[in-house]
Amino acid sequence: MPRYLRPEPFAKLEGRLDRLELVLGSIADVASSHADGGFDGFNLSDVFEYLDPELCRSIYETLVEHSRPDARLAYWNMLVPRRRPDSVAERVSSLDERAAELYARDLAFFYGTLVVEQVSRA
Ligand SMILES: C[S@@+](CC[C@H](N)C(=O)[O-])C[C@H]1O[C@@H](n2cnc3c(N)ncnc32)[C@H](O)[C@@H]1O
Repeated sequence: MPRYLRPEPFAKLEGRLDRLELVLGSIADVASSHADGGFDGFNLSDVFEYLDPELCRSIYETLVEHSRPDARLAYWNMLVPRRRPDSVAERVSSLDERAAELYARDLAFFYGTLVVEQVSRA
């Protein structure tokens, strides 16, 4: 069972619901309009592999632009191998070891890869 559905974490999460804000919109628009100093992380599911490479690049650049130093982006690939675009290669590094560790514990067996990337401090 996913951790968030187990009794102990559920009670903790339920008590913190006031910290959540649900926003409807495209990722790039929401990242731009709710940045408020920048994001520390993005859990992106497998959104990129269904989009064409140019749109992926554009969205990814927007997310990096609205990231705080050390922010992480995590996402899965099922069939299409998406990674950070070359345009942000100097600002974003891949945390492949960390991704492999997490993937080994992942309960979503149908994804082919988990990608974890980190925005640099500079
Ligand atoms: C393959 S589904 C993943 C759905 C779900 N997160 C999951 O893991 O089962 C990809 C989702 O990304 C959403 N999506 C695609 N482009 C998006 C964008 N630019 N902003 C926000 N969501 C987007 C689609 O509407 C779709 O729900």
